[in-house]
Amino acid sequence: MEQGKGPIQWFPGHMARTRRKMKEALPLVDAVVELLDARIPVSSRNPDIESLTAGKPRLTLLNKADLADESATVKWVARLNQTGVRALAVDCKSGRGMSRVTPMLRDVLADTIAAWESKGMVGRPIRAMVLGIPNVGKSSFINRMSRGSKAKTEDRPGVTRGNQWYALPEGTLLLDTPGVLWPKFDDPQVGLHLAFTGAIRDQILDVEELACELLGILRDAYEGRLRERYKLTGDLPENTYELLIEVGRKRGMLMAGGEVNTERAATMLLDEYREGKLGAITLEFPGT
Ligand code: G4P
Repeated sequence: MEQGKGPIQWFPGHMARTRRKMKEALPLVDAVVELLDARIPVSSRNPDIESLTAGKPRLTLLNKADLADESATVKWVARLNQTGVRALAVDCKSGRGMSRVTPMLRDVLADTIAAWESKGMVGRPIRAMVLGIPNVGKSSFINRMSRGSKAKTEDRPGVTRGNQWYALPEGTLLLDTPGVLWPKFDDPQVGLHLAFTGAIRDQILDVEELACELLGILRDAYEGRLRERYKLTGDLPENTYELLIEVGRKRGMLMAGGEVNTERAATMLLDEYREGKLGAITLEFPGT
């Protein structure tokens, strides 16, 4: 999605527009599929989802599971299921977990399907809409699930007019346009986590400050990975800016005069974290 690529600003007008689009599409669907980032299931969730979707049955997917710590993802799925949120870990890059999406969606809608069947609507397709903050993988999910095959448009007025649906296996129709939720980052830590993962581009802090914050977390929780990736030996500097200099030096990012180009080092570190080159690293755990 284009919104994920450049800086996004969540002006009130922008939020009102995305909210309006979602509200227009909601009556057309039976359920919503909410995508979260498995590395930051709290920060990537718009806490207003319940009210925004007006209580539509929901399946929550922890996407980018390939970039998250697997044991943490297992705990997250268990925790969400315990709290009555039907959840599943998926990875839209490799397709892992995705064959379970449609059966689980049918499960989430078991009562609705039973009610349809009691009225003689046997085999009625489930209509669902994908929702999530920018860059969480909504388009990747839709493309992967549908393999690009659009459903034939029916001429039921009000149902398909102006909307395109993808026909998935086992009788599910997926709305081709995802609902974009805005991230909520009044809490500075939420803002940082969204920025580390690239959900919001480097707009809340400058890139070097952001990299220093990330280095602090990595040094405390994933020191081994940090050392390994950047061939760091000996005691790591306490000061994260000095640590950034060290990382840049190890990568040979020197400017004329021999000083380390910390801006380049910072961009490189953030890119590498976002691409999973430092390994599968979760930043938020259930109960924290
Ligand atoms: P959006 O519609 O919600 O805005 O997200 P989109 O599908 O555009 O995905 C945003 C980025 O996240 C894309 O990378 C996409 O490939 C990546 N992505 C989506 N799902 C997964 C996943 O499960 N695992 C991993 N590792 N990455 C995922 P990009 O760099 O913006 O584009 P590209 O490299 O795919 O061209």
